[in-house]
Parts: sequence; structure tokens; C-alpha cells
Amino acid sequence: MTKVSKIGILTSGGDSPGMNAAIRAVTRAGINNGLDVFGIMRGYEGMIDGEIKQLAKRDVSGILQKGGTVLKTSRSKRFFEPDIRRQAHENLKKNGIDALVVIGGDGSFKGASVFSQEFDIPVVGIPGTIDNDMYGTDYTIGFDTCLNTVMEAVDKIRDTASSHDRIFFVEVMGREAGFVALQSGIASGVEAILIPEVKGQIDNLVDLLAKPERKNKSSIIFVAEGHTEGNTYEIAEKVGKTFPDLDIRVTILGHIQRGGSPTAYDRITASRMGVAAVEALIDDQKSIMIGIANGEIVHVPLSKTVKLHKEVPQSMLDVAKILV
Ligand code: F6P
Repeated sequence: MTKVSKIGILTSGGDSPGMNAAIRAVTRAGINNGLDVFGIMRGYEGMIDGEIKQLAKRDVSGILQKGGTVLKTSRSKRFFEPDIRRQAHENLKKNGIDALVVIGGDGSFKGASVFSQEFDIPVVGIPGTIDNDMYGTDYTIGFDTCLNTVMEAVDKIRDTASSHDRIFFVEVMGREAGFVALQSGIASGVEAILIPEVKGQIDNLVDLLAKPERKNKSSIIFVAEGHTEGNTYEIAEKVGKTFPDLDIRVTILGHIQRGGSPTAYDRITASRMGVAAVEALIDDQKSIMIGIANGEIVHVPLSKTVKLHKEVPQSMLDVAKILV
């Protein structure tokens, strides 16, 4: 028999397309299993301030196809403070909430892991971030939609780049990781992908641009925002100094990468993860993240996901090496 009877659900950190699908899945799976489900607004901020309301099935109708998060989100600094976390726990107790589902990324799970241990409350994490940088899961909700957004934007940039024979340095998101740049770069057929995980790529780029067959040709160069050899403007300037005749432009794609209606893959994955999160709580799991490995749902200890580092897949690097 389950010990859990009232689940709180929140979204935290950067929003990602598909978070709403996960909220809907947790709410409906919870209610279908006889549990009460409570939406906590604005991530940990709403937990601290007691912005909590019970969700009915109809409250999550019509949200599956929407980007962002209907529960809103925040990057809570206050939640780092033990006294503030105690206040947040009091608010859960007031509502009788005895388990939490946290949808978010690395930073959100660090908070979740500490909170779970401190107050001995079961917490299940659902990885939601466009960055796809969480250890223990092949996939994070929002990544696929983000790749498609980048690809569509770059298809448009290519029209103008080739009309002017220009070199475009395009910065894509992903924090310190190159997952977005690498995979959207393959999908967009760009001429070079510069990511923090691979060294010496700027020299390779210079070699590429120096080739006689590249003369009067446009190129699109992806730069991951967390590149260790400078920001996109600095890298473009450095390359421009070597090739003063090149007509160079910089585009920062920015937050459009976080928005938009989630793809089918994001909706389905978020739905699977949401249902799995509720099942895990009913099965008395205490402090885990729901992940996807080789297409199947897995449970990963939260303590492990927040400590360990996820590497960009070698298979993708190999493909990029051949095609880019
Ligand atoms: O983690 C998601 C992400 O979009 C990163 O790719 C990016 O570095 C960061 O969030 C931007 O955060 P903010 O919206 O707080 O500026």
C-alpha cells in the first residue's frame, strides 16, 4: 500500500517545451491513482511563499500543446538558505503534501536532493531543460523542440548568408554543455560546430576557411554559448582578424530556443516521465530522477544526477566529424 497521499508538483529553473505535458501527466496519473495533486507556483519561490493550489483534472486541460510552464518557474536563491527551506516545508505540511515532483534541471535537482534528505520527504525529479545535460538520462524534456527551433531559424539565416556569401557565427544555448550545438548543428548542416567539450576547433575552422574552395562561399558556424575560448563575438573577431576580406556577421539565437509548442517527441516523453514519476512515488521511491535510457524509463538516484557529469555522445561527435 502506498504511503503517499498528496503530491506537490512544481517547475523550476529555465522553462522548457514539454513541461506542461509533464504537469498534465503527473496530475492525471496522480488523480487516477486516488492521490490529491497540488500545483506549486513559481518553483521553490511559491513553495516558500505558500502559493499552492489543488489541481483537478480539468485544470490541466488544453495545456499539452503549450510551451513554457503554466505553473510558472523561477531560479530561487532563497531556497539555498536552510531557514527558508524549513518555511517551505511548513507550507507543504499545512496542505498535507507528503511527496514532491520537481520538473527542472541540474540546479533544481540539487535543491530537491537536499530538501528530500533534510525533511525525509520523497522527491521525484523529471528532467526538464533544453540543454539535455543531465547525468543519468539520454534525454531531457524540451531538447527536441529546441533542436527544431534552432534548425528552423538557421534555415532562414542560410538564405541570407548564401545570398551575400557571408560567414555567420551563430550562438546557441546550452550553458556549459555542447549538446544543443552539436545536435542542432548536425540537423542544420552547418560548416563548423564549436563546443566546449572539444579543443582545437578554432584552428580547424581557420584551416577550413583558408581552403581555396571556400572562397566566395557562405558558411554557418555554430558556437555553444559556454565556449571556453571566448564568447561568440570574441571568437568571430579572432577569426575575422585572420581573414580581413570575409564578410562576417554574428547572430545570438537567445531565448527563442526555449519557447514554442513542444514536438510530439517532447510531449510523449514528458507524458511517460510524468506517469513514471507518480508510479515511483506510489512504489515508495524516495529521492530519484526519472530518466530515459535506450528508450526505456529508468530511476536514477538524485544524489548521483547532481554529482556526475554527462558527456556529449561520442557517436554524435563522430557523425559531426564526418559530415560537418
Ligand atoms: O538551462 C536552460 C538555459 O536556457 C541555458 O541554455 C541558458 O544558459 C540559460 O538557461 C539562460 O537562463 P536565463 O533564462 O535565466 O537567462
